[in-house]
Amino acid sequence: MTILIEKVEATKTIISSKDLNVFYDQFQALKNITIDMKKNKVTALIGPSGCGKSTFLRTLNRMNDLVPKFRVEGSLLYNNEEIYRSMIDIVELRKQVGMVFQRPNPFPMSIYDNVAYGLRIHGTKKKSIIDEIVEKSLRQAALWEEVKDRLHTSAMGLSGGQQQRLVIARVLAVQPDVILMDEPASALDPISTSKIEELILELKKKYSIIIVTHSMQQAARVSDETAFFLNGEIIEFDQTHSIFTNPQKQETEDYISGRFG
Ligand SMILES: Nc1ncnc2c1ncn2[C@@H]1O[C@H](COP(=O)(O)OP(=O)(O)OP(=O)(O)O)[C@@H](O)[C@H]1O
Ligand SMILES: [Mg+2]
Repeated sequence: MTILIEKVEATKTIISSKDLNVFYDQFQALKNITIDMKKNKVTALIGPSGCGKSTFLRTLNRMNDLVPKFRVEGSLLYNNEEIYRSMIDIVELRKQVGMVFQRPNPFPMSIYDNVAYGLRIHGTKKKSIIDEIVEKSLRQAALWEEVKDRLHTSAMGLSGGQQQRLVIARVLAVQPDVILMDEPASALDPISTSKIEELILELKKKYSIIIVTHSMQQAARVSDETAFFLNGEIIEFDQTHSIFTNPQKQETEDYISGRFG
């Protein structure tokens, strides 16, 4: 019985789009995107530069709202609710659907304050609660041991890999549901990269993760399902293993075998 419930839970959809079209003014960056992304899975978005991966990621938590003449058509659901409905609470959406960027972007403040930032914004005032969540988030982000004795020093003094884990801790502190990652390890050295990859595998037990990566190896190592984007379209979406061993489309095969992009 338990096993059955777990199976059903594991395949629950967290974010889905149907015939999603996205425009920057006259330019159509995404065309008829139809995809179901699953809860507690890692979904990788791959494809050559300029094919719309970041646009898609940023559409998911409305990061592009301030881009002039940015326009969305079609359906995009998070937990069965339209992300682009008019009454949505965008601050709440961005708390639920957190984002980690390519370049680590710690705020110019202490390590502790970086992690506490979102909590304070969302109204948590009690020091004991903030202390507890800061520690928990840093532990979850596999950074606690490295920073526990220097919590009140500047985050800018951390290495790039540590900064990226700090940013992940900052996202985790507000208890998100989905974590979007846009090439989170591309600015990092191999050791920091493998730390981020291990972290992703650990985090998917509790969160749903959507990650853009230019590294096929990384997509193969960390993701359960992979979507291949080309010129604003999803050419193929399948189990990661199938995409890399038995792609159904010629374009996918060309891309993963390094023939273009
Ligand atoms: N703010 C913007 N205004 C106008 N056009 C944009 C904007 N952002 C992206 N685009 C265009 O949309 C297309 C998709 O860009 P996007 O950044 O989503 O690609 P990408 O797949 O993430 O590429 P990369 O792998 O290089 O990061 C590109 O042609 C790009 O020039
Ligand atoms: Mg991009």
